[in-house]
Amino acid sequence: MSPPAIRFKDITKSFPGYTAVEAINLDVSSGRFLSVVGPSGCGKSTLLNMAAGLMTPSGGSVEIFGEPLNGINRKAGYMFQQDALLPWKTVLDNILLGLELRGADPKAAEQTARDWIHRVGLDGFADRYPHQLSGGMRKRVAMAQTWITDPAIVFMDEPFGALDVHTRLRMEGEILGLWAETKKTVMFVTHDLEEAIALSDEVVVLSAGPASHIVGVYQVDLERPRNLIDIKTDPRFTEIYGSIWRDLREEVLKSYERNEKV
Ligand SMILES: Nc1ncnc2c1ncn2[C@@H]1O[C@H](COP(=O)(O)OP(=O)(O)O)[C@@H](O)[C@H]1O
Ligand SMILES: [Mg+2]
Repeated sequence: MSPPAIRFKDITKSFPGYTAVEAINLDVSSGRFLSVVGPSGCGKSTLLNMAAGLMTPSGGSVEIFGEPLNGINRKAGYMFQQDALLPWKTVLDNILLGLELRGADPKAAEQTARDWIHRVGLDGFADRYPHQLSGGMRKRVAMAQTWITDPAIVFMDEPFGALDVHTRLRMEGEILGLWAETKKTVMFVTHDLEEAIALSDEVVVLSAGPASHIVGVYQVDLERPRNLIDIKTDPRFTEIYGSIWRDLREEVLKSYERNEKV
């Protein structure tokens, strides 16, 4: 059997005076769409950052396709909640950036970037600057930026948290389309259980911190392709939601008790 795209082996992460996550063991199989949910501050971003190589574990190790991860994860792309568009560059130049940094041939790179502009639905906007774009359009640029370098793994940390509900639904649909076409491994972080279920093959619930651990890993056997507009009223969706929420609810309540002032 081929090794998992991402393996967390007995991972612990401590900050001075605070253990964020402890004894995390988790495999993300190649080609899967996996989401991590848990109360605010439980360590979701911390886990993602360790798999991306942006943060070093205090204990344990991360393996990427069977190889120990040292430093930045070069097999991965990353989409954050705040998009990282450069305000002084156009849509085209922002999308080109990743290929430029890798020293790609400029002509070929520009063609690839134009293909991506089309693919993410930004035809006619190549010469616009980020401040001239809507929130959804900025996300489309960020998507193209992430996918253009063809990473085997895509990390997303609450990428749509700041969008209005309708724009968010459209962006989620776009992500599922890209994922289905390109067969990447996706590790997605969200505090929104409905979003996690609607998008994922698998949902991981983390406990309230400190020393957050995995409460459960749940399979989402809803058929694909999924209709995100209607999926939340599907009886199977409701059933899965109920069983995960039973566990997550406990953790959310614990987290309330521990952070009364929030
Ligand atoms: N660089 C850091 N220094 C100190 N504490 C941190 C740092 N990064 C995260 N933490 C703490 O670790 C815990 C988990 O944070 P985080 O992974 O951002 O949570 P989540 O993404 O689930 O909301 C939080 O209590 C946070 O304050
Ligand atoms: Mg976070």
